[in-house]
Amino acid sequence: MIKEEWLKKGFADEIVDQGIDIKAAIGSLKKEKNAVILAHYYQTGDIQDIADFVGDSLALAQWAAKTKADIIVLCGVHFMGETAKIICPDKKVLVPDLNAGCSLADSCPADKFALFVKEHPDHTVISYVNTTAAVKALTDIVVTSTNAKQIVESFPKDEKIIFGPDRNLGNYINSITNRNMLLWDGACHVHEQFSVEKIVALKKEYPDALILAHPECKGAVLTLADFVGSTAALLKYAVKTDKKNLIIATESGVIHEMRKQCPEKNFIPAPPNDSTCACNECNFMRLNTMKKLYNCLKYEWPTIEVDEEIAKKAIKPIKKMLDISEKLGL
Ligand code: 13P
Ligand code: SF4
Repeated sequence: MIKEEWLKKGFADEIVDQGIDIKAAIGSLKKEKNAVILAHYYQTGDIQDIADFVGDSLALAQWAAKTKADIIVLCGVHFMGETAKIICPDKKVLVPDLNAGCSLADSCPADKFALFVKEHPDHTVISYVNTTAAVKALTDIVVTSTNAKQIVESFPKDEKIIFGPDRNLGNYINSITNRNMLLWDGACHVHEQFSVEKIVALKKEYPDALILAHPECKGAVLTLADFVGSTAALLKYAVKTDKKNLIIATESGVIHEMRKQCPEKNFIPAPPNDSTCACNECNFMRLNTMKKLYNCLKYEWPTIEVDEEIAKKAIKPIKKMLDISEKLGL
């Protein structure tokens, strides 16, 4: 009954059981159903706080691979749920709002990518995890921003490589590995938005501040950065540095954990180009809410499903990434 209602309305941001303590109720449902909640650092603070595990894209895949839970609630975006489902085909994988997509994954449609791959038959295909299962099925090895450099470097210098879909990450990896990988022309609308001018202005205001940037940012932002790394790497760096003022050029959700771990530091979200807001949030990530999380656990819906044939192909490059990351101690 509730499912039909939701299908009409989309994914319900309201709960039928009025007056409940939502945090306690999520906790009880989790126990009762042997479920685990995995959340990405770009989720809202309340979801991060209730999750069993919070991590970057690589850590979420690694956690999915080792969990003994029957149900995985992936509080992140659709491709993260798909990756968990491909790794754990026998488990139920839920994402609180199935509309939580990804502009970067959308910038690489599988049919167009298949043509691109076909045009370059002598190339190894490396795909960023921010892709659909269908694109992963066309891929030799998957990477995340945590392991992209090491995985690219695991191939001989003269290996011909296609790297997709993020052109910013691809350009960055080309520059630090001295390669010339052929890049797919995709990008993330959040990371593309950071304003070089506004970051320079912030640096004038806080001359001692360090700039920490995710490699999905434009080259001009990365050039300004004191440290470039994945979400988890930025967090680690922020905790370690003795500098007090830190300008963060990635989705501002990660600042929640940074502030928790370093309440004495001043985290300044890098401003986007054309917004009156001082921070930069991923509208897809923010579709998940506590109420939707409660509903999806209670009704075990919406589930992530992956076509069996696609999943059979996509698991290979994902597994390769997990194996190589384990060997590298990542
Ligand atoms: P990481 O979690 O690998 O840092 O990637 C960031 C991202 O954009 C996830 O959508
Ligand atoms: Fe996709 Fe960008 Fe949102 Fe990450 S931040 S989920 S790459 S749109």
